[in-house]
This record gives sequence, structure tokens and C-alpha cells, in this order.
Amino acid sequence: MASKIRNPNLRNPNNEELLIATTNQHKIKEIAHILKGIRVMGNGIRVNEDGRTFEENAIKKAKAVVRKFGQSAIADDSGLIVNCLQGKPGIKSARFATPPTPENLCRKLLKKMASCKARGAKFVCVIALVYPSGKVRTFKGVCHGRIIKKMRGKEGFGYDPVFRPCGLKKTFAEMPPAIKNRISHRAMALKKLKDYLAVNPIR
Ligand code: IMP
Repeated sequence: MASKIRNPNLRNPNNEELLIATTNQHKIKEIAHILKGIRVMGNGIRVNEDGRTFEENAIKKAKAVVRKFGQSAIADDSGLIVNCLQGKPGIKSARFATPPTPENLCRKLLKKMASCKARGAKFVCVIALVYPSGKVRTFKGVCHGRIIKKMRGKEGFGYDPVFRPCGLKKTFAEMPPAIKNRISHRAMALKKLKDYLAVNPIR
């Protein structure tokens, strides 16, 4: 899904808008919250996420939107990297369980980690900004934490109920969205994007 972002800070001098590609309504909500003042509208675009890295997938999604709408677009690709699972589920985080409900994803992860003593993990988010000229910029955000042993909390999506960020007692799913949206991998990547756009406005 490609969604139009209406944010005065991100508009170019010709009043064109930056588009965002995602099919995940939770991500749209988080991105809108983090970039503030955004109005999000859906336009359906589906992309086969067959890249080997978060970067490749994010670029592929953003390029599909640029091709369809002929203007600059951003896309995010993200996932959870678990140390004791040799980096899994990684770029396959969204498809780790079937159907990929938060309960199924978390349950499968906890089962696979039943014998893991070291429970370090990190969320990674890569935002790709693609221009109609084909120019590409990527922005990476990382949030380190631990996978706890039982699901806790109802907020957020995906693996939020089992991910506790470093230095905090609550899981992402137990904290108000405003807090997650200050410290998350997505927040870190979007902050880099915002800083970049502040000095390199879209034209
Ligand atoms: P994709 O970026 O659309 O491929 O999806 C990434 C998947 O990683 C999501 O469907 C979630 O399962 C997981 N994920 C990414 N970011 C988060 C997050 O902030 N919280 C919980 N799970 C996440």
C-alpha cells in the first residue's frame, strides 16, 4: 500500500507530496505519529519482498511507488534479529509464523528460544527514500533489547509483546505508543530521514 504523507515539513517547493509504501496499518500509524502532522491515505501497491537485506526490500518497495506515481517515495523494511537464533527471523520477520498474527509470531519465537539463555535481540528498520531520477538514500535505525519469556502488553504489533528495550522494564507492547515512537528502530531511522530532508528538500 502506498500512502500519501501530508506534512508541511516534508513538502517540496512545488507542493508535491512524499509517498510512503507499506501494507502495514500499524506502521502507517507509527510513521504518521513519528513524522507528526501527517495525513495518511491508502493506494494499493504490493511488492514481493524477495531482497536479501532490509535495504534491498525497502528500496524495492519505494521504487514500485515511484514508478506508479512518478514522485519521490519512502518505504520501510524492518524486522527482529535474535542473537541465539543466528539472526532469525530477520528479513523474514513478517512471515515467521502462519497466519502471522502477533500471537503466532510471538509464540513461535518463544518456542524456538525455549533453550536460549542469552536473550539479546535487536529491531532494525531501514527507510529508503527514492527520487523519480532513480537516486536512492537509505536511513537505518536500530533498537537493542531482550526477548522476555512470556508475552506482556497489548499495544503495538508483531513482536512487541516479547521485546523489552535495553534499560527499560516494559515491553514495547506495555508502553504508550508515544514512548515506543521516541525510542524505536523506526523512530531512529525516521529521525535520520527528517534530518536529511531538512537540508536536502525534495525537488
Ligand atoms: P516488513 O517490514 O513489512 O517486512 O515487516 C516486518 C515485520 O517485522 C513486521 O510484520 C513485524 O512482524 C516485525 N516488526 C517490524 N517492526 C516491528 C515493531 O516495531 N514491533 C514489532 N514487530 C515489528
